[in-house]
Amino acid sequence: MTIVANKPEPIIYELSSPGRQGAALPACDVPITQLPNHLIRDELKLPEVAEVDVVRHFTRLSQKNYCVDLGIYPLGSCTMKYNPKINEEAVKLPGLTGIHPYQSADDTQGALQLMYELQEMLGEICGLPGVTLQPAAGAQGELAGILIIHAYHKARKDTKRKKVIVPDSAHGTNPATSSMSGYEVVQVKSDARGNVDLDELRKIADDTTVGLMLTNPNTLGLFEENIRAVCQIIHDAGGLVYGDGANLNAIVGVARPGDLGIDILHSNLHKTFAVPHGGGGPGAGAVMVTKQLAQFLPGPIVVKGRLMKRPYELAMPRKSIGRVKSFYGNFLALVRAYVYIRSIGKEHLAQIAEDAVINANYLLARLKGVYKAPFGNRVCKHEFVLTGTPFAEKYGVHTLDIAKRIQDFGYHPPTIYFPLTVPECLMIEPTESESKQGLDEFADTLLKIAEEAKTNPQLLHDAPHDAPITRLDDVKAAREPVLCYRG
Ligand SMILES: Cc1ncc(COP(=O)(O)O)c(C=O)c1O
Repeated sequence: MTIVANKPEPIIYELSSPGRQGAALPACDVPITQLPNHLIRDELKLPEVAEVDVVRHFTRLSQKNYCVDLGIYPLGSCTMKYNPKINEEAVKLPGLTGIHPYQSADDTQGALQLMYELQEMLGEICGLPGVTLQPAAGAQGELAGILIIHAYHKARKDTKRKKVIVPDSAHGTNPATSSMSGYEVVQVKSDARGNVDLDELRKIADDTTVGLMLTNPNTLGLFEENIRAVCQIIHDAGGLVYGDGANLNAIVGVARPGDLGIDILHSNLHKTFAVPHGGGGPGAGAVMVTKQLAQFLPGPIVVKGRLMKRPYELAMPRKSIGRVKSFYGNFLALVRAYVYIRSIGKEHLAQIAEDAVINANYLLARLKGVYKAPFGNRVCKHEFVLTGTPFAEKYGVHTLDIAKRIQDFGYHPPTIYFPLTVPECLMIEPTESESKQGLDEFADTLLKIAEEAKTNPQLLHDAPHDAPITRLDDVKAAREPVLCYRG
């Protein structure tokens, strides 16, 4: 792969030219009235640009972007896999794009059938028969899940439960969700193999335990080897087990969370089931629960109708926690997930997990001799973690430098400094989309960068060399974001 030597032109934002117009309106054929003064904001300096200026500006911006349609996007924990284009064909069907959420069930039987079948498929894939498609993202699914657990304990008049146990290898949204729901978060440590430490868990779980939130496979890319024992300890204490199923692509078609003891699970349909989710959405975080918990699901959900002429209906579960999203969730995200599952077919779903796992293990095997892999002695699932500590200690090259240098080779960097339990962490998820050739090219690049760290650390400190903007002050950007352009 070649490195472009010339610095790209910076993007010019100030394109406004007095008098230039983007739209030609026909002559006014209604009486002209004055807008109320409070609606007129003179301070808004709207750019005066032609349509072609706008199109070129945004096209130029889009070409600066990196996306999964350009190359490997190994952003661990985010499952940036290829989203097949047939999904996009389906969402363009006028019968799906043209319907309105206020249309009656009689009018929208096709859409309801699709949602019903998706509920059924997800229930079967996860081994948890109650399903809601409402949540718009994984984190929202988690919130719905904890509210369901809350409703379950309340219905049993068990009000002394106050704490949610969260392993230190959990995704950050798990403790955030628990605390947002008003519960105390109690952390349980991982053992040397990266599993939940069972002795610690036994000490913590008691009759004040609401439940446990378990990311499995966890953020180290490891499958919880003692999952049945973990669930048993929580159930014995009277709590429920919430499974963070964002990493379902590592086990889909091979293992069903419900069979392992999980009571409630969300799946990021926008990850495992190939719905685009760059730029913050829109996603879909379906929640699956045991039969016993189905009465608490947020609704409406789709049920089989009683009338021949209306086979599908919307219904609110008996003790529903209520709505968590307007209408029925992000419908077109659901359509994409449905098409993905149907086009792969039930009998081939396991191939997703097998390919995701073999790709991650292949890349790990190629890198672990040079980059240190803290759990390199275990088979990983869909992703794995490396630590850049040796480079930091020997050459003063940090993980951030490595990530920035990766950009010079035309790749999106992996997730860095997460999970927090691994110092100088690089978290890599190649996904099942990549060919061996693609994996080899990426591995060669990382090995080359490791060599550069030794021989020319400054090259890494100054990277990226090739981007319109080089090093940003990441902390300042997060603390004092400037989200609005002003000329
Ligand atoms: C393990 C895990 N849990 C939860 C989430 C949150 O999902 P979302 O971004 O859809 O809210 C993510 C997102 O990347 C994740 O990786």
